[in-house]
Amino acid sequence: MDRYELRTIVLTGTLLSIFFFAVLYNSYSRKIDMPTCIPFDKTFEKSEVKKIDDGLYEIYLVAGMWTFDPEEIEIPSGSTVDFYLTSKDVVHGFHINEKGVNMMAIPGTINKITTKFEEAGTYRFVCNEFCGIGHQNMMGRIIVK
Ligand code: CUA
Repeated sequence: MDRYELRTIVLTGTLLSIFFFAVLYNSYSRKIDMPTCIPFDKTFEKSEVKKIDDGLYEIYLVAGMWTFDPEEIEIPSGSTVDFYLTSKDVVHGFHINEKGVNMMAIPGTINKITTKFEEAGTYRFVCNEFCGIGHQNMMGRIIVK
């Protein structure tokens, strides 16, 4: 085997291992769920904040030009939240910097991610996919009390 071939194989294997451990680290140590695409026949059209149990919420977010519905969400600290995200027009983004949450809002599709808000504070979420002239104003916040 050519030595450059061997180096390429070793480098590729090392990179794949790093990516694999990064996924495991984020899932188990940082408790960041990987986004999931949910196959539904029809997506939801109305936003909703559902309390399932103490400290357990389901939030149905609808992104649209150029707001999120709902724009402001209040939850108690220690809550685990399942975010369900869709879009009513074009592709938008959904990014909560402090929580490592980054999803796309795609028309006709529901994406889901679970994250836990342990500390009180205000967590901003923004659209991070360019979606038109009002893109830079598309944001909201989660108030954790
Ligand atoms: Cu919505 Cu950028």
